[in-house]
Amino acid sequence: MSNYHIKHLEEYFQVYRKSVRDPEHFWQEVAEEHFLWRKRWDNVLSWDFSKPEVKWFEGAELNITENCLDRHLRTHGDHTAILFEPNSPDEEAQHITYKQLHEKVCKMANVLKDNGIEKGDRVCIYLPMIPELAIALLACARIGAVHSVVFAGFSSKALATRINDAACKMVITSDGSYRGAKKLDLKSIVDEALESCETIETVLLVERTKNKVVLKEGRDKWLQPLLDAADSTCEVVTMKAEDPLFILYTSGSTGRPKGMVHTTAGYMVYTAYTFKNIFQYNDGDIYWCTADIGWITGHSYIVYGPLANGATTVMFEGVPSYPDFSRFWEIVDKHKITHLYTAPTAIRALAKENIEYVEKCDLTSLKVLGSVGEPINEEAWHWYNDNIGKNKSPIVDTWWQTETGGIMISPIPFVTPTKPTYATLPFIGIQPSLMDESGKEMKGNQVEGRLCIKYPWPSMARTIWGDHERYRDTYFSAYENKYFTGDGAMRDEVGYYRITGRVDDVIIVSGHNLGTAPIEDAINEHPAVAESAIVGFPHDVKGNALYGYVILKEYGETRNLENLSKEINQQISDRIGPIAKLDKIQFVSGLPKTRSGKIMRRILRKIASKDTSNLGDTSTLLNPEVVQEIMDNSL
Ligand code: PRX
Repeated sequence: MSNYHIKHLEEYFQVYRKSVRDPEHFWQEVAEEHFLWRKRWDNVLSWDFSKPEVKWFEGAELNITENCLDRHLRTHGDHTAILFEPNSPDEEAQHITYKQLHEKVCKMANVLKDNGIEKGDRVCIYLPMIPELAIALLACARIGAVHSVVFAGFSSKALATRINDAACKMVITSDGSYRGAKKLDLKSIVDEALESCETIETVLLVERTKNKVVLKEGRDKWLQPLLDAADSTCEVVTMKAEDPLFILYTSGSTGRPKGMVHTTAGYMVYTAYTFKNIFQYNDGDIYWCTADIGWITGHSYIVYGPLANGATTVMFEGVPSYPDFSRFWEIVDKHKITHLYTAPTAIRALAKENIEYVEKCDLTSLKVLGSVGEPINEEAWHWYNDNIGKNKSPIVDTWWQTETGGIMISPIPFVTPTKPTYATLPFIGIQPSLMDESGKEMKGNQVEGRLCIKYPWPSMARTIWGDHERYRDTYFSAYENKYFTGDGAMRDEVGYYRITGRVDDVIIVSGHNLGTAPIEDAINEHPAVAESAIVGFPHDVKGNALYGYVILKEYGETRNLENLSKEINQQISDRIGPIAKLDKIQFVSGLPKTRSGKIMRRILRKIASKDTSNLGDTSTLLNPEVVQEIMDNSL
């Protein structure tokens, strides 16, 4: 029996049992049969969650791009690897074959080398969703440079923080980007960021929008002429299994963003294996994940997972609403998409529009639908299932995280019966457990608790860049010998999991993780602000929106509060990016605090959600009177 491609429920249970009974043997078989190694491993797994230290395939040597590109050349050289759909439907789509992609990656890798990039150096990539973005990732991986992609919607300050944290040597960016009808000037954001970065030696610029840009002598270079002059072959640099492949930042509930470090072999094996099974991808299928490569979904399921399987992966530069709300469905129709993997926030936004936007397109090519990033509510699930899947394409509701590298809990289409709002069963090799408040594992079904994983899986992040202690504290200290996800979940009567949402101070807005602390820090930097607290409240498109409670230094100040709200949001936009802006800002005279000075967010969350019938015990508050005032003036 091949373990690589699961086709029946019975097979799933068999393979699952095998994968947890003897994980090392199981993953060794997968690794042996389906990948190209320069040197075999000495040891499949060693681990200790108390340190925490996890090593997969130690001793092995490989290069992930050899697995994503070179080995497909003979059988798939003329198949499309990347299908690029530009922002404007009037611009022609590009079909980049495996042969062409291989050549482009080699050229880019040579340019990186010519510009002083060596194995282990960090390269920051700040690009829109154009082919050069995927090519830049692969070029880094080919020569062993560690890529750190920063989503091109982050502000210059957020970009600078990330560049400095990883001490990047180079930035790859573009003159600008198209987002629907808007044109953004990425180069000046980079210029502004680099005013506070000392480690960057070179900026490579992709020409995309023909924005006027100023090149800084000795630092900035147009990429195209360098590519034109570069050699089209580039030997891979052999990587050790545990060499870092990339850093990707995610928000924490406190302070600075966390640079999650993913390593080479385990990440490759797990993303490839999950891609094959969770999407049931077959040769000739056209797979489209609508995420941005700036997030983990794009890394694992636009670039590495699909390419490791020789698949055709679509990259879409634009937005679902441009030129109108039919765009997604037109792309499905135009390219005969077979797999569509998107986010609940996009589904909700499109479900609000006239159904004619959907009905005028032919969606019969679709076979599998996916959802990721946040819990999908029942209404959105049914809309997606009825109108897009026409009740015949299963929805895979995939639960996972930047930290997990790959999908952890998900149905397998045509294998696992789906259930609306449930991510269903753990994937092969994944051992979830639910913990109660006292730290005990909850056995049996029909229980709800905090979601942990009790055994290592190949694609888990190995550390936080430069801060291993924070890695341990955040993920391995809440429960002994377990990885704590930060999510709550319930397990139903048949063992299906439903993710109920974050149990920490991370709020998911339109599928993006936002920590409360960095936003509060940004607000508090405004000269008129004394203190602030952010909570999430339900929003029918974004899932959650942000509600800010702000104490001014001079309460009752006669300043125009509307302007002040605008200034506060501008401040957040400058410090973090527009995605972190607040939907509502209420100025208050105080915040409900415990006697030890901790803000009682539970109460603020209830008020923001207009759920004030039962605020719970407020007697322990230092200042209970402020609660009534906040409720009276609630927005
Ligand atoms: O709360 C969970 C939610 O998104 C968090 C991880 O966010 P991020 O690291 O940005 O990765 C998103 C893409 C993998 C999780 O802790 N989440 C993600 N997928 C789901 C989900 N919540 C419910 N259902 C999902 N399918």
